[in-house]
Amino acid sequence: MYKPFGRILYGGDYNPNQWPKEIWEQDMAYFKDARINSATINVFSWAKIQPSEEEYYFDELDEIVDMLSEENYDIVMATSTGAMPAWMYKKYPEVARVDYQGRRHKFGQRHNACPNSPVFQKYARAIAEQLAMRYGNNPHVTCWHISNEYGGECYCENCEKAFRVWLKKKYGTIEAVNKAWNLEFWGHTVYDWDEIVAPNALGDGMENGTDTAFAGLSIDYRRFMSDSMLENFKMERDAVRPYVKDAPITTNLMGTYKFLDYFKWAKEMDIVSWDNYPSYNTPWSFTAMSHDLMRGLKDAPFMLMEQTPSQQNWQPYNSLKKPGQMRAQSLQTVAHGADTVQFFQLRRSVGGCEKFHGAVIGHVGHNNTRVFREVKQLGEELERLGTSILGAANEADVGIIFDWDNYWALEYTSGPTEDLTYVNQIHQYYKYFYDKNIGVNMIPVDADFSKYKIVVAPVLYMVKEGMKEALTEFVKNGGILITTFMSGIVNESDNVHLGGYPGPLRELAGVWVEEIDALAPEQTNKITFADGTSSTCSLLCDLIHTEGAQCVASYESNFYAGMPAITKNQYGKGYTYYIGTNPTEDGIVKVLDMAVQTAGVASVVTEATGLEITCRKTSQYTYYFIFNFKDKVLPLPENFIGKQDLLTGETIPEDFHLKQYDALLVASPNTLRGKK
Ligand code: GLA
Ligand code: ZN
Repeated sequence: MYKPFGRILYGGDYNPNQWPKEIWEQDMAYFKDARINSATINVFSWAKIQPSEEEYYFDELDEIVDMLSEENYDIVMATSTGAMPAWMYKKYPEVARVDYQGRRHKFGQRHNACPNSPVFQKYARAIAEQLAMRYGNNPHVTCWHISNEYGGECYCENCEKAFRVWLKKKYGTIEAVNKAWNLEFWGHTVYDWDEIVAPNALGDGMENGTDTAFAGLSIDYRRFMSDSMLENFKMERDAVRPYVKDAPITTNLMGTYKFLDYFKWAKEMDIVSWDNYPSYNTPWSFTAMSHDLMRGLKDAPFMLMEQTPSQQNWQPYNSLKKPGQMRAQSLQTVAHGADTVQFFQLRRSVGGCEKFHGAVIGHVGHNNTRVFREVKQLGEELERLGTSILGAANEADVGIIFDWDNYWALEYTSGPTEDLTYVNQIHQYYKYFYDKNIGVNMIPVDADFSKYKIVVAPVLYMVKEGMKEALTEFVKNGGILITTFMSGIVNESDNVHLGGYPGPLRELAGVWVEEIDALAPEQTNKITFADGTSSTCSLLCDLIHTEGAQCVASYESNFYAGMPAITKNQYGKGYTYYIGTNPTEDGIVKVLDMAVQTAGVASVVTEATGLEITCRKTSQYTYYFIFNFKDKVLPLPENFIGKQDLLTGETIPEDFHLKQYDALLVASPNTLRGKK
């Protein structure tokens, strides 16, 4: 059960240990002025608090914790295991990872412990426990942050051995492994567990790191790596738990990050937290989707653990956030389910590769800056909101399936095109609903589909056991399923569902896909709809035979001109739309408009608008977060005129328009539905 914090946590990563004491006091005054009430500390202090194998040193951290406690902060205590001390590498080189090229790394960087190193595990567990014993009782330490941004992969011998154990548990016999990975292909049959090797560039992985000779093997290795790091998380979590009473334990995730199966991870986390770092050209719909995905992991509000108040340093072009942009971005996060707004970081570092990374206090050292003023304005507004929106829900009639196994499998597959990327496909469909202000939940493959009127499953390449039945039940009972090319192709080991594409979805979709054509970047085709309008399409073209479905659009050219490209099939009380190619946006809009109408799904406002309007709901109120992310002035829909903007406390006047990055928050009491 989700339990909100006592207030909106506002603050972020804070490293006073990197600064002389005089600055600490000054910081406290500045932060108070900005209404900062929370600090994430000790993220990279392992080397400081454990200077050698035998000794701990907590004096400085004690002082930091005391200072923040006196100032009544919500302290987010990190366990510091995201970067290992140098002494550990020197004495135990095995704690470092072996990379895809097979190179054993030396001391350096971070987020690079071999997850299966018993030495790393022993010391990580010990430091986490020490910290929890020392600070677990402090009522100001209200959240625990394990390690930092888990990720990457290791191909060392320890991992290889652990992989074999993981496989034994999953498959039982070596014959089952041979079958699952179809190792008869290229004569790769193995007869003993220790003949199985990690699939990096020295094994079955292709040189480029993105392809593999045996996707079944490589997907299992991804699953194993994700599980290995999850075991690291659980190990520290369990070391901390006995000492921390109710404080939630989390680790910061990274949105659509590829290498970890976050749906599996979230089950082990008390609350999801994540780091939002869009680029200068990331569409706002993409950021919204990432938030919805993070909320979807536990179907609950989440923490925004990090974002920059101004600019990043690690992107190719680290544009400044324009005036108002940070505020709008933060509020968008809250709109999509965040109960905290935290920055990386509170004070800009003096050296190291992040010295150009934005912070609340910059290198000038004082608070007379644009960035500070904007941080303070937002702080005051969040304070004004109080606890009203904490824990409020985001409701949706539409579920979009996101699945890490599919992500891995689709992108490992060799052919039919190298231009197909999982997340972009999902985003194209998400964007339709975003533009229409229709709420979306990002859902796993084993979600309860019956909660939704529409389920969208773009490129559902891997259809695992039980899914066919669940989707069939959903459609039979009146649901609308939208799926696309490259769906229903393989099982969970990446072996093809024989008997014609889209395999287990064939009956539901009422189509048989005989062949799949790949179009090169310079090639396109066109599709014509029944009303005579047409759209361009690219990437892949399914050659479809209808088996009960009706044709919604057909190809205009190539030898398959006239064959269906998009179909609709009635099944029970519901329908399946099958989109057999990659239409331009207008084509997607056309099909999804039909689906939305059939399903009776509505936008949160009746007026058409270019604004983003996202709702969170408590038992009493619906909160409308309204944004203008467009580069032009837009009018506010009529029904919000005369209402109070909860951010400023002011009444919204007649004929109100929003400039780019303007944001409003309006509450409206819920009317009791279903009662007369
Ligand atoms: C990540 C890390 C932080 C910091 C920021 C910089 O999210 O967790 O430690 O490096 O990136 O953007
Ligand atoms: Zn390893």
